[in-house]
Amino acid sequence: MENKATLLSGIKPTGDIHLGNYFGAMRQFLDLQDQFECFIFIANLHALNQIHDADILKANTLEIAKAYLSVGLDPNKVHFFKQSDIPQVSELCWIFNSITNVGLMERAHAYKDFVAKNGSGGAAMMGLFDYPILMAADILIYESDIVPVGKDQQQHLEMAVDIAGRFNHIFGETFKMPEGRIGDETATVIGLDGRKMSKSYGNTIGLFDAPETLKKKISSIKTDSKGIDEPKDPDTDNIFALYRLVADPVDVEQLKMRYIQGGVSYKEAKDLLYEALVNFLAPIQAKKKELDENEDYVLKVLNDGREVALERAEQKLREIKTKVGI
Ligand code: TYM
Repeated sequence: MENKATLLSGIKPTGDIHLGNYFGAMRQFLDLQDQFECFIFIANLHALNQIHDADILKANTLEIAKAYLSVGLDPNKVHFFKQSDIPQVSELCWIFNSITNVGLMERAHAYKDFVAKNGSGGAAMMGLFDYPILMAADILIYESDIVPVGKDQQQHLEMAVDIAGRFNHIFGETFKMPEGRIGDETATVIGLDGRKMSKSYGNTIGLFDAPETLKKKISSIKTDSKGIDEPKDPDTDNIFALYRLVADPVDVEQLKMRYIQGGVSYKEAKDLLYEALVNFLAPIQAKKKELDENEDYVLKVLNDGREVALERAEQKLREIKTKVGI
């Protein structure tokens, strides 16, 4: 395992793990877990910006651990751990704080969006402002080569590269430059309303949604008013955009032709999406049920992953501290 290049990625345990997380990020690690030495973590320090309730954060953390294992993350191949179990990351974040300009952070989309909504009167938490620096520490401490994420994280990756370059410039060559890996077709998975699928927009399809919930959500997808016989555009329709992700490729091609030629109603397309989604999610949900009965196993996996990550982080931090003189 040791000679492989390093892959790293994280997901915040903010609840409601959805198809955007799955197709934007998780599936990429699943496809790459044989090829790379993988460090996959639960970004619970980042989640502190949004969750100020210990019970909820703990429960979400366990849920997301089960989600990763349910979708097929193999703990024998991947180092899987909690971000907060590696305190070296927070130490490195402080070191990076000391060499990063406020101006760089002021350009971060998440911070700018917050200020646009809430004004610049200082309502934002420091944790939100500092978010990209903590993320840079996550990425750089494990000497990551590739970081598979959705498109919404691209700017954060660019900032990590900036920070690595600045550190190298001041203290000498220390960090290699990580590369983002963003899927072509799944860079941004759209939600029920056609915007980016996101918990904050309330437009998600959850990996663990029950069939009745899926039915309701699918029926709420907005369409235009074209009748059965009218040709429809598969590239702009939200039902098709989701169907394409979860259905068998042969079925996708078939529905695409029927859209283009006319002869399918949106009601039928929604029924097909429902069926495909239930089939797609069934094995993931079954695996999750097993893990619900076996939480000790999940905690052990996180503990084993922690040991390897700790060793790697400690070694790198020692080098960094020597360079900066602490
Ligand atoms: P988070 O928890 O918001 O999202 C986790 C991953 O899911 C991707 N994603 C999407 N991809 C495509 N379409 C969507 N609709 C969609 N919604 C979410 C995200 O791009 C992400 O890859 N800051 C990160 C967590 C993090 C991290 C890191 C990631 C902390 N440190 C270091 C990589 C490396 C986050 O909030 O992701």
